[in-house]
Amino acid sequence: MERPEIRTELPGPKAKKWLEKDKLFISPSYPRSYPAVIERGQGVWVWDVDGNKYLDVNAGIAVCVTGHCHPEIVKVAQEQTAKLIHMSGTDFYYPYQVQLAEKLAEIVPGAQNKRAFLTNSGTESNEAAMKLVRYKTRRTYFMAFYGGFHGRTYGSMSLSASKYIHRKHFGPFVPHVIHAPFPNPYRPFAGAKEDELSDTIIDYIEHEIFHRLVAPEDVGAIFFEPIQGEGGYVVPPMDFFKKLKAMADKYEILLVADEVQSGMGRTGKMFAIEHFGIIPDIVTLAKGIASGFPLGATVAPRSLMDWPVGAHANTFGGNPVSCMAALKTIELLENGLIENAERVGNYLLNELKKIQERYEVVGDVRGIGLMIGVEFVEDPVTKKPASKLRDKVVYEAFKRGVLFLGAGDSVVRWSPPLIFTKENATVALEIFDEAIRAALG
Ligand SMILES: Cc1ncc(COP(=O)(O)O)c(C=O)c1O
Repeated sequence: MERPEIRTELPGPKAKKWLEKDKLFISPSYPRSYPAVIERGQGVWVWDVDGNKYLDVNAGIAVCVTGHCHPEIVKVAQEQTAKLIHMSGTDFYYPYQVQLAEKLAEIVPGAQNKRAFLTNSGTESNEAAMKLVRYKTRRTYFMAFYGGFHGRTYGSMSLSASKYIHRKHFGPFVPHVIHAPFPNPYRPFAGAKEDELSDTIIDYIEHEIFHRLVAPEDVGAIFFEPIQGEGGYVVPPMDFFKKLKAMADKYEILLVADEVQSGMGRTGKMFAIEHFGIIPDIVTLAKGIASGFPLGATVAPRSLMDWPVGAHANTFGGNPVSCMAALKTIELLENGLIENAERVGNYLLNELKKIQERYEVVGDVRGIGLMIGVEFVEDPVTKKPASKLRDKVVYEAFKRGVLFLGAGDSVVRWSPPLIFTKENATVALEIFDEAIRAALG
């Protein structure tokens, strides 16, 4: 069984030098959890500058869905780089953008008559969606959810409400954004029982928010993550989005599914919203779409993505190399990786539930496919988040050569490349278990 190999103290001598320089030259705002200085990657493995080998359970924040440097991605990117690197879709046409947009029209839920606006990141995809919504509806208000994360530029930051540090001292925010509670079955709003949680929230939106804060006819769209990512890998009840859509339809409010983290096969379907049986009006994408090349997309029906020349554009969005990498990524997803995400995800979820039975501090294990959250609590009854313990678990795993990331207040997220095998999962589970024991001391 292939395993991590840690040969030096961590951080190693070369890593230490880079960390010192990083401190001098890189913005200190990045929230790094441990000093991993990565030099190269292959598949599910990455190596640091000292030659230590790690198992990557987060795929560069849910990005490298085909694994690091998948040979077929490398090949198409190299070929495209030799042919055309940049031209700008703002002023010129090129086939690679059109090819990708046509494929996105096919795979994004809903009829094929869609258009895409191509971007460079998740935040930019959401900004484009916000502008499109205001442009088309002439309604100024947006609704989003507590725990949601949509990016760090002003519009998407205004939609986000997962941690105050993302917002502190950055206000005032884009006006006319209202937040509603998200249906978190582990921490239910107003103590609602699981089978009443969706109704409780819809009722709150309709009878409190739409009664006291804003008229529904002033709300252009509701932005949501089908499964919350940064906020803690929270899976809502399966009936929630159907109920949200019924309410939104009543007031002609658009639904924008932010699939930046949950999309591109991660949950065992191409898009997480497919598990919930509704078709959103707009879907925003990035992260896993191009296996690590910067790319995002805002996808909507033609009738909606119908704004005048000059209304929105960018210089780099839909870069030819990124588009070709995205087309190959989608091909690989369709040819086995989505099924693998479901199969290995089910195995992981079951095994993590067994770990939960052994530790009182593991309050909840949830997820779909290879998007799994393990929530640490101080006490299973009070459910007080055990943030420090979570951080220790992540660090102990790093020391043993497995890379995890946190999410929410006290969650460890599992979002490995979709090539993750049962064997990789077994190694990661074993070391996760050891890391919990070490963190508990
Ligand atoms: C759901 C979601 N939306 C948007 C974003 C922002 O994406 P980016 O960092 O590419 O701007 C993220 C990033 O974590 C995300 O998880």
